[in-house]
Amino acid sequence: MNITQSILQTLDESLENITSLDQLDSLHTKYLGRNGKINELLKDLKNIPSEEKKEYGQQVNELKQSIITLIDKKRSIILNDKTGKKIDVTLPGHEYTKGSLHPVTYAIEEISGIFEKIGFIRMSYPEIDWEFFSFEALNMPSDHPARDDFETFFIKQTPHKKFGKMVLTPHTSNGQIREMMRLGKPPMRMINIGKTYRPNWDASHVPMFHQFEGLCIDKRINITHLKGTIEYFAKAYFGEDREIRLRPFHFQFTEPSFEVDITCDICKGTGYVKKSEILSSKSETNSKIIVQNSKSQTKCRLCKAGWLELGGTGMIHPNVLKAGGIDSDEYTGWAFGFGIERVMMMKPNVGLSNVRVLYDGDVRVLEQF
Ligand code: DAH
Repeated sequence: MNITQSILQTLDESLENITSLDQLDSLHTKYLGRNGKINELLKDLKNIPSEEKKEYGQQVNELKQSIITLIDKKRSIILNDKTGKKIDVTLPGHEYTKGSLHPVTYAIEEISGIFEKIGFIRMSYPEIDWEFFSFEALNMPSDHPARDDFETFFIKQTPHKKFGKMVLTPHTSNGQIREMMRLGKPPMRMINIGKTYRPNWDASHVPMFHQFEGLCIDKRINITHLKGTIEYFAKAYFGEDREIRLRPFHFQFTEPSFEVDITCDICKGTGYVKKSEILSSKSETNSKIIVQNSKSQTKCRLCKAGWLELGGTGMIHPNVLKAGGIDSDEYTGWAFGFGIERVMMMKPNVGLSNVRVLYDGDVRVLEQF
């Protein structure tokens, strides 16, 4: 056994019995200190024949490195295990908390998947856009009262000569015009998902929310296509047992226009629930359902007479097609715009009664998804 090996072996044996940092420090001094073993060996260098000096020097250096490595390894073992006992590598490891996506991100993925299955292309259009795309091209000139419904954040910037001021988009409908301009010619099937902004802040509104906008333009497109597609979405997203209805409404960019309703999950579209059902479905997190009286049937407090409102839709107004450069004599189309947070919270068993909790950043909420 050469000298290097025997020094390492002795060190190994000493390390075995060491349990504290103090002990380790004295061992360090013993080997690497001023009067330690390594320096002793280096002092011997002068007695070594000159042709062997180089090799000897190298060996001592390698030995020094090995000693440092062994001592450091022992140090980290002691530091990780304050009791100084050896670590039992067979023990199961610590479980680290796993991150997850935000519930709205899950909803976006699910919704776009449903539409991609039937040939809709997912697009993402600017969330800061000119008034032209958000209003004018959608048949809402600046003096039109319908524009008041879309309370809007304006960006401080010199207005564009043709496109007007810049806004934080109050809806995803700007994507309709941009998609028409991008493709130039139908057929078009698009789903535009994006952030939208309106200056509202209460239990059912946050100033930044998400919408998804559907657009379909081709020859001979009519309301049955619109209804069929929304019904397909409603059943895929909410469940096969849900029904939809179109309620006449008014939007500047569609004619005719509708609001879409979906049957309520709690009362199954009847508008009434049995008292026993209320009690069984009532939980601490779901305070929306309140017992009204002690008769056996009572009105469902979640919906309006069996229906919940999903969002707006309609056949695209010819002026809008024209603004997007589409020949409105040859082509027709439909569009819809729904809120992501809204549809997500309407899904059975989501159990969120207040949209703001989605954006408070409380991990206890996010952990549940
Ligand atoms: N942009 C409307 C809103 O934010 C929703 C909407 C209604 C979109 C009808 C549409 C539509 O595409 O056809 O309230």
